[in-house]
Amino acid sequence: MIVTFIGHGYVGLVTAAVFADLGNEVHVVGHTPEKIENLKKGIIPIFEPGLTEMVKRNIESQRLFFSLDYSSVSSSDVVFIAVGTPPQKTGDAELETVYEVAKEVAKSLKGGYTVVVTKSTVPPGTNKKIARIIDENKPTDAEFDIASAPEFLREGTAINDTLNPDRVVIGTESDKAQQILVSLHDSLLKGSESGQGQLVTTNLETAELIKYASNSFLATKISFSNAIAKLSELCGADGLKVLEGIGLDRRVGKDFLSPGVGYGGSCFPKDVKALVSIAADYGYDFTLLDQVEGINSQAKRDVVRKARGMLGELHEKSVTLLGLAFKPNTDDMRDAPSIDIAALLRKEGARIKVYDPEALENAKKVIKDVEFSTDLYEAVKGADLVIIITEWNEFKEADLSKIKSLMKSPNIIDGRNIYNPQEVKDLGFTYIGVGR
Ligand code: UGA
Repeated sequence: MIVTFIGHGYVGLVTAAVFADLGNEVHVVGHTPEKIENLKKGIIPIFEPGLTEMVKRNIESQRLFFSLDYSSVSSSDVVFIAVGTPPQKTGDAELETVYEVAKEVAKSLKGGYTVVVTKSTVPPGTNKKIARIIDENKPTDAEFDIASAPEFLREGTAINDTLNPDRVVIGTESDKAQQILVSLHDSLLKGSESGQGQLVTTNLETAELIKYASNSFLATKISFSNAIAKLSELCGADGLKVLEGIGLDRRVGKDFLSPGVGYGGSCFPKDVKALVSIAADYGYDFTLLDQVEGINSQAKRDVVRKARGMLGELHEKSVTLLGLAFKPNTDDMRDAPSIDIAALLRKEGARIKVYDPEALENAKKVIKDVEFSTDLYEAVKGADLVIIITEWNEFKEADLSKIKSLMKSPNIIDGRNIYNPQEVKDLGFTYIGVGR
């Protein structure tokens, strides 16, 4: 099929590259000249394992094209809207860009039939509004249907997630659009490694809500884990064993029960807030999700509380944060817990050094008044305390004896439980994890 993607963020670029790799002709439209010029050369604006190779391979085989204009829309079978929907101050998703893009798509349609699919995360009702906008702006001889196909890929494992989906959700009121989209996604479902990929076909509002409900449920699992971890620390239980104990029940499932320094990223914080706000619009007070957010903030404050417990007064103490990205294998700093934790530590007067294998450049834009280090061992020199914020492999494999010899006093807060506490204590560190 001929497919156009509007937007080349994590969702747009990864899905576009995968559809090209599966043999479709894929066009990606952006609005920043420099980014599009770079993409044409295979230089991608984000760090995502395997993506550069996949993009280059498909540029070379002439299946993947990048452009600043919407000219490919008129010849496309399917047009995906995959632009960002960042949160507004109220928690509501910002939808202006989605609506502007819908208008541009409409104006670029020519005679013939096109399916316009929203991949961006948007509240229930948005796709109906997009359909109205397209209807009002398209040429009379252009036919279209609208569909919602939310995306479930995770940064860091985005290609594998797209190639092996647990489910593909297609929401549309049109049988014709549904058939076209099922056939476009067919090889993903059939070819998925697990062979377990399920197709969910439904109406627009259901597809739209599935995305918010999925992210909010996963965020709830993480906050539940952080609450159990905290209680375990207080009552002397081994929180990780408790969570393993409940996760082995298939009704619960063992994934997404790792306590830590709180969830971050461009999705959970924004989608949980947006769902609270969507619910409020319908008169429902989603207090469960208020608590999910509250526990998440507490997980960040707890890191600082633990630091105070170890060092006493934090004023003028040297604290090194290892890992800044909201999770490993990405350079994404959006809503990363490191931002709040660094701010809380600074407020108490600590001197902060930070290191991350990939996110330093992005971090410089959002974390101020800290010393950025480009080397792990350089970063821990003279530190009174090292805090693991992101569980990069580089930290798991680090030479802890060397770290100890470089630090001023050997204190570790392991915010992601990456070390074996006994081994670290045997090396002479004072160690605190999460929930253990
Ligand atoms: C999340 C969802 O997992 C994807 O399914 C969804 O498509 C995506 O949002 C989106 O809406 O676009 P992502 O934000 O890339 O994906 O990252 P996750 O791997 O879900 O991690 C989110 C945060 O939760 C990270 O800060 C991570 O450290 C934290 N986390 C995750 C925990 O603290 N504990 C866990 O057990 C799992």
